[in-house]
Amino acid sequence: MVDPDLVHQDFQRRLRPILPQGMGLSVDVYSPDVFELVKQLRERGLRPGYLEVFKATTTVLTTVRQALPDMSLAYHGEGLWITQPDVQASPFFQQDVGEMVTQLNSIQSLWLNHECAMKQMAGYSFGTYVPPLYTPLSAEVVAGNITTIQQAIDRQGRRADGTSPLFLLELPPLTYFAAGTILIPHFFRLVTALVPCGLVLDIGHLWTVYRYTAACRQMPLEQFVKKFLDEFPLERVVEIHVAGLACHESSDGAQRTAGLPEWIDAHAAPIPPILFAMLEQVLAHPDLVSLRAVALEVDTKPIEMIVEEYAEAVRCFSPVVQQAMTRGMATEQSMDQPRHSLSTLELVRQSDRQQLRDEYARYAQIISGQVPMTGPEWQDVAEDQTGLTAYRTSYLPYEILHWGGDLTEMFPQTCRILAVRGVILTEFVAFWFRAPRPLTESYDFFLLKIERFVEFVAEFAPDAQVCAEQEGEILRQGYEQANEVVGPVMEMERAR
Ligand SMILES: [Fe+2]
Repeated sequence: MVDPDLVHQDFQRRLRPILPQGMGLSVDVYSPDVFELVKQLRERGLRPGYLEVFKATTTVLTTVRQALPDMSLAYHGEGLWITQPDVQASPFFQQDVGEMVTQLNSIQSLWLNHECAMKQMAGYSFGTYVPPLYTPLSAEVVAGNITTIQQAIDRQGRRADGTSPLFLLELPPLTYFAAGTILIPHFFRLVTALVPCGLVLDIGHLWTVYRYTAACRQMPLEQFVKKFLDEFPLERVVEIHVAGLACHESSDGAQRTAGLPEWIDAHAAPIPPILFAMLEQVLAHPDLVSLRAVALEVDTKPIEMIVEEYAEAVRCFSPVVQQAMTRGMATEQSMDQPRHSLSTLELVRQSDRQQLRDEYARYAQIISGQVPMTGPEWQDVAEDQTGLTAYRTSYLPYEILHWGGDLTEMFPQTCRILAVRGVILTEFVAFWFRAPRPLTESYDFFLLKIERFVEFVAEFAPDAQVCAEQEGEILRQGYEQANEVVGPVMEMERAR
């Protein structure tokens, strides 16, 4: 039996070496060019308290570390699908965790931040984050997976002073829907009672929780935020993110509920003022006692807009961020907890694990439109299907056909042949979700798209297969080279 008090003490011990960082930026080293960004910020007299960098190649991250020796760096991980009951059985799990620890070490990271979300489940792959099933069993599985990863960090990522980077779990965005049987704050409470992780509260993601759950029809935003914060384990929030919101390219923007726009997480878009009002509300909450940092998430955003938004955010929020960070420090100083070893969670029973795996298989099939909604976790979504319908019929096809690499630009010659043969590209979406598929490598949506498209062509227009393979090979080589330098990777977007 895990004692939540001991777990919390362990969290506080792990938190203590993380010094307050103040306001910073969460960036992707490729887009925009991180060195150009830092240069332009400095020209305006701005020095971010820290940079949180998204996963890249280890070579590139090492270059960033060396080029910015005085900058505190933190790490935004990707590809460890901690929501999944079978992730540890994946042939790539050990390798992915090993790479992640190497990267944490290479930048001397303050922490490992990872979304509580996935892009792969039960053999189905997606390009952007899908939220977990919000159920008690799912929370238990997340906690178990975090424990395993934190143990690996403790073993391989321990610093000279005996401390090691802390796992931070981020509240994920909703893209039009959420499935589950418990409230989202309750889910995070269950996780934090079991494992000494910290949390990242993303204000834009919180807005999407309001927008795409029943809450927006039941209460005003301010009341929702208050209720959410009272229920959420706010005492575990170490970092806050603020990023842009916008209507998606695939949406006509006409869909409004309770007078609210159909915004989703969009890091390239401007940060709407409403998020700063929410930030103010969060920073003022007395339970926010572990805060170390606040970042604007600015990957894929034009540098000029980043500089303007960051300057304004620092001007408005720096003093109140400082106040919030000091709130917890006084109580922490007086505590000198004994060291507890990370409890190994009792294994989730095999039958429960299998049940959750089946639920995730059904999840993937429901949101890709292969099977109708069944099961208690889909009850709320079934009552108002507008969101899921938009996801299934517009957002998801766009993701497979255009996002992270537009097929007609990636495979121009092959697409011309397909058009002549009468093969419609939208058939590729059905092909993609036709059946679960064993993993053949660590998650990379761009590489996966190439692999699946070549398979699609082989089946639907066999005489174009050679052409598709050739175009695919050129893409792979260009991608590999571009990943090794700071700056834009082809025309690809990288979303979190
Ligand atoms: Fe975020």
